[in-house]
Amino acid sequence: MKYFIVTYGCQMNVHESEKIAGILEKLGYTLADKREEADIIVFNTCAIREGAEERVFGNVGNLKKLKKTKKDLIIVLCGCMTQKEATAQKMLRTFPFVDIVIGTFNLPKLADYIAAVKKGRQLEIWQEGEIDEVLPYKRTSGDNAWVNIMHGCNNFCTYCIVPYVRGREKSREEQNILNEIKGILAEKKYKKITLLGQNVNSYGKDLKKPVSFAKLLKDICALDGDFTLSFMTSHPKDLTDEVIDVIASEKKIEKYIHLPAQSGNNRILALMNRKYTREKYLSIIEKIRAKIPNCRITSDFIVGFPSETEDEFKDTLSLIKQVQFDSIFAFMYSPREGTVASKMENQIPQSVKNERVNKLLNEEKRIQKETGKR
Ligand code: SAH
Ligand code: SF4
Ligand code: F3S
Repeated sequence: MKYFIVTYGCQMNVHESEKIAGILEKLGYTLADKREEADIIVFNTCAIREGAEERVFGNVGNLKKLKKTKKDLIIVLCGCMTQKEATAQKMLRTFPFVDIVIGTFNLPKLADYIAAVKKGRQLEIWQEGEIDEVLPYKRTSGDNAWVNIMHGCNNFCTYCIVPYVRGREKSREEQNILNEIKGILAEKKYKKITLLGQNVNSYGKDLKKPVSFAKLLKDICALDGDFTLSFMTSHPKDLTDEVIDVIASEKKIEKYIHLPAQSGNNRILALMNRKYTREKYLSIIEKIRAKIPNCRITSDFIVGFPSETEDEFKDTLSLIKQVQFDSIFAFMYSPREGTVASKMENQIPQSVKNERVNKLLNEEKRIQKETGKR
């Protein structure tokens, strides 16, 4: 019996697919080289932009032929896209050959859905769930081990679907994280530990006994072993001086911060509900550069947010010029149903978004040539 997993989206999903692999291997499945050889195929989906969802629809559709030749093949859809009840229902209707459709919170019960599939197609979407501390991971990222430190997000940036499909912020107990990392280090296979969370800097605030992210970093660095520690993603509004100091002083922490700015214009940042200004962002960059010389800094930007004018977009260009990031990701705003921004007036035409994203990437190329950065 063999399995194949197709993963879309962020590192969080990549890591969650390691959990899916762990569940399937416990059931006796082994990894197939390609999907045609698999007895079970899992699509771990992403909902962040429309393009991500379209790819899932296309690729699931392609499985129809395979299912015809292989009647016992089990097809599972899970992840952020199917967490949306309406989308999950639509997928079940569109793809009669799909067997199991579940949301992000139902994953720990995957083995039960597989066992029940003989009785009929399974659809279940929970709206919340407990953090699973039991199921094993089948790690797949070479000498890097992902470690999730928190689930969900409380920020509700107005463009973003994540809080709706991943729920509210829930931190793992510090001791559970430390134990997991001790176990990873004991295996002696991993050189790098990467902590994952949508906003790692707010780690621990929700725990009964709150723990700061800076303390977590220090406690991990104090563990025996020769390893590099990194983390993502940092939200500028929560990146404290204490965290910057810990990165500066701890040898084990990689000198790298991914700090998504999203826009360089204050009106747009406020509309995005990012809770910082351009000036605040720049002051954080200054602090990082002063305390951690040679720190690599990367960022994400969204162009074409509703009502963004050409001049406001130019503020984003000037921000990337001013900061000289080591690299950036630029996204065209994609309206997500149910989010505040999707209902805002003055949505920007696709052609303008295309233009702006190209301008941004060209400017970035020009800056990198000039500064000799990659
Ligand atoms: N929690 C992280 C990452 C979230 S998703 C953070 O806060 O930075 C990764 C990136 O996708 C975001 O930084 C943003 O730039 C982009 N993104 C999110 N929603 C989007 C949308 N609706 N349209 C276009 N890009 C989006
Ligand atoms: Fe989305 Fe904002 Fe949360 Fe990041 S911080 S996941 S962009 S709502
Ligand atoms: Fe990640 Fe996509 Fe979900 S970016 S959290 S897999 S919506």
